[in-house]
Amino acid sequence: MKFSVKNKPVDCLIVGVFKDQPWPDLSQTLKKSGDFSGNLGECWVVYKDPATRLLLVGCGKFAPLKERDYKKVILSSLKTLSTLNIATAQNLLPQLSVEKRSLAWKTKYAIEIYRGGLYRFDQFKSEKKPKMALKEMIFRGKNLDKAIQQGLAIADGMDFSKNLSNLPSNICTPTYLAKEAEKLSKDFKTLSVKTLNKSQIKKLGMGAFYAVAKGSAQDAKLVSVTYQGTAKNKAPIVFVGKGITFDTGGISLKQPDGMIGMKYDMSGAAVILGIIKAIAELKLPINVVGLLACAENMPSGEASKPEDIVQTLSGQTVEIMNTDAEGRLVLCDALTYAERFKPEIVIDIATLTYAVMVALGQHATALLSNNETLAKDLLAAGDDSQDRVWQLPLWDDYQEQLNSPFADMSNSGGRLAGTITAACFLSRFTKKFKWAHLDVAGTAALMAGTDRYATGRPIPLLVQYLINRCE
Ligand code: BES
Ligand code: ZN
Ligand code: MN
Repeated sequence: MKFSVKNKPVDCLIVGVFKDQPWPDLSQTLKKSGDFSGNLGECWVVYKDPATRLLLVGCGKFAPLKERDYKKVILSSLKTLSTLNIATAQNLLPQLSVEKRSLAWKTKYAIEIYRGGLYRFDQFKSEKKPKMALKEMIFRGKNLDKAIQQGLAIADGMDFSKNLSNLPSNICTPTYLAKEAEKLSKDFKTLSVKTLNKSQIKKLGMGAFYAVAKGSAQDAKLVSVTYQGTAKNKAPIVFVGKGITFDTGGISLKQPDGMIGMKYDMSGAAVILGIIKAIAELKLPINVVGLLACAENMPSGEASKPEDIVQTLSGQTVEIMNTDAEGRLVLCDALTYAERFKPEIVIDIATLTYAVMVALGQHATALLSNNETLAKDLLAAGDDSQDRVWQLPLWDDYQEQLNSPFADMSNSGGRLAGTITAACFLSRFTKKFKWAHLDVAGTAALMAGTDRYATGRPIPLLVQYLINRCE
């Protein structure tokens, strides 16, 4: 679908109406009929003539909308629009007032929501759902170009990342991810890619990364994607992503039920490619490096075993108490590798712990950081983008849970505060830079009954963070 701002006759006008306020002319008879009452998210189509419609979207009682209610209004308008035989629509929903939010914000957010609602992953379905008739959605207002561009770039990045995440692990292997990064880099002059394979990972001294990689018949990949949007000597922001294309748990094998959804364990890496696609489209004046730590966590005769001790790229040794705590093993070496880029800031994104869902459910991404300014900026970008994070403490008190009698640390901190002890583990590899850790195990993919899908989070958060840094 195209999104634009222009003045031209359309097949449908979309307007929000409040229960207790006057409605547009055409709908006075409707109000009297009592068929439609304007409850939040309720939709009704009024015909002026067979070619001109008015889509009324209920907004409840008159008051500035909360962001989540605005989202509901937008989503329900899409549901009804998809049933109409129309090519063009003029959308006045961003004219509704939403607490503290500008018209540009409401337009950008609406585009993200519409595009999210239009997303389909049906490449393995014999029968595809028919495409919606609507071709162009027209907004009204001045100076909305940037908001539209940003909304579209974020949506493009999210679609790209969701497609990768939704692919099964028999297709989306570490090698496949590396190829996708290569392909993406061909689309933009500002991008370049370098990839290390399993034997190079071992040779470089990444003993923890290798310990995860070696159990699988699939090659492992450490992919570096560089986006240069400004002077080469400007220190980059480095994103490090967990790219476990399937997490069986390894020798500490998961239960069958616990394995469902583990194709999504590469979402951190996929999201980084989405961020890079978005900022390359927007040509943001910054430098960014994405490091994708890709491997498959499998049990086999070659696999790491509980109580194995390995040496990380940093020199520190780790006793692998649980091979299912593999994310931190690939990440710790990728984080040390990040030092080579002399980063301004490092942010890692990982579906790291089940515990984060116990703490925050599936609404907020957990944020842990060694720098309060960085944490504040991310919290603010979360509010801006409505892709929210919530900070957990990274106090030294928790570090003791990682003690090992034989190595410098254990890779597992036990049952209590699992999200924090996982971050404590990573913190031992991030002393040389400002760093934030985002645990997206609860937010990157959702499962409801038989339905499972990637969300593209936290792309809106991190693109907003980068936009804010540029302004
Ligand atoms: N990939 C999982 C975390 C996960 C669980 C993500 C459920 C999404 C949904 C991770 O590798 C893992 O297995 N973590 C363990 C760590 C433990 C063994 C210390 C966990 O959270 O149970
Ligand atoms: Zn995992
Ligand atoms: Mn695991």
